[in-house]
Amino acid sequence: MSICRLSLALLLLTPFLHAQTAKPTLHEALMAARADRAGEPGVAAAFQRLAVAHGTPLYVYDQAYIRGQVAALRAAFAPRFPKLRILYALKANTNPEVIGLLKAEGLGAEVVSQGEIETALRVGYAGPEIMFTSSSKGPGEIRRAIELGTVLNVDSMDELNQVRAEARRQKKQASISFRINPGVDPHTIHQINTGIAESKFGLHLQGGIAFKAYETALAMPEIRIAGAHCHIGSQITETEGYLLTARKMMGLLKDLKERLGIQLGFLDLGGGLGIPYQDGQVVMSPEELAKALAPVWKEGIAAAGYEPTLWLEPGRFFVGGSGFLVVRVNTIKETPVKTFVNVDAGFNTLMRPAMYQAYHRVRMIGKTQDPLLVDIAGDVCETGDILAAGRLLPRAHAGDLLVILDAGAYGFSMSSEYNARPLPAEVMVEGDTARVIRRRGSFPELFRSAEATPAARK
Ligand SMILES: Cc1ncc(COP(=O)(O)O)c(C=O)c1O
Repeated sequence: MSICRLSLALLLLTPFLHAQTAKPTLHEALMAARADRAGEPGVAAAFQRLAVAHGTPLYVYDQAYIRGQVAALRAAFAPRFPKLRILYALKANTNPEVIGLLKAEGLGAEVVSQGEIETALRVGYAGPEIMFTSSSKGPGEIRRAIELGTVLNVDSMDELNQVRAEARRQKKQASISFRINPGVDPHTIHQINTGIAESKFGLHLQGGIAFKAYETALAMPEIRIAGAHCHIGSQITETEGYLLTARKMMGLLKDLKERLGIQLGFLDLGGGLGIPYQDGQVVMSPEELAKALAPVWKEGIAAAGYEPTLWLEPGRFFVGGSGFLVVRVNTIKETPVKTFVNVDAGFNTLMRPAMYQAYHRVRMIGKTQDPLLVDIAGDVCETGDILAAGRLLPRAHAGDLLVILDAGAYGFSMSSEYNARPLPAEVMVEGDTARVIRRRGSFPELFRSAEATPAARK
């Protein structure tokens, strides 16, 4: 081969050689793990770097991924719904840095407790930018929300009366919406199915209960009616439930306008957008949802004679896929029935598999050979502490790293110190840097109320 030909061949091959040999950034390594390339040496080196620098179990979030999810939702909805406000449901991931990132992206805050209100304030939200939804608000929470001018998403007539009394005491008008139970089954997991008639959430549309609530509130000078809200469930993968719900909510909108003269500032259709947890799983895209909702919305506003702002409040959709739980193998145990890979995290770290029988993809870091059918078992002293059952993974040894995908939503935010295990650390990856956004818990933190214990009093 002539020199000329050789250099041409090298030139053409360069991108491929580069892809094989280049050292991926942390961001690229995370994305490669999602794409089932966690066995590659460069990817493995990046995960080793994270694990050595920050320890395990470790929650890792990818900033670009979160931003991409916001952009995708906005691109689908903004052109079709000119009056649109997107909120972030903090419960999915309550890390202040994650919330701050979503605030910087222009999202409002949907909270479910005073703790989340205080977190939102700390991140820089003003009271009126916050929507407070809970079916069981305490008197202190109601007091604080009214002081701050937060929108209270009222869940019962008892709560409405308490809100009214507190607003009167504060000589203020409380902004409210009602959480409506539309009686719709979105076909998701039972525990996260919130809009069915049997659920504890919301005032039923059925029997005119929700309508009556608005009529009652209208007569209360201490109450300012801001909107209507519903949230039919989480991890919803099909559009049907949303369409049915939107139709019912638009019916309420029309009734309120025609019969009571109430014009709502917003109609909140909740969160719940599902994400794919399995390889090859197809779920409704924001584009599909927005496209399907648009005609229902158009018809509804034409019938009502006005257009409220459409509010959406997803949590999981923004952060779920951004999260990676890196764990280390403690021991391997072969029993007569199955092989367990025992790791250094359990349902105290990631509750979803034990609580919802949820499936999370697991990737072995740095290995591709010798596949073995295993259960990934947690380090909590409970039979049900299995993070992943029946997975075909390259043979693991003590000290190996595994990564559990899609752990960014309802991961750390549902974690606990059960079995007296300190909470894991959280880091945010941007390009090739990883910033600690919550330091690892410590043993002294387990004893933080020790003054109250008899041993400490001696
Ligand atoms: C009232 C409310 N809004 C929003 C959400 C966010 O749901 P998801 O994370 O599924 O989008 C939830 C969670 O269940 C919720 O209860």
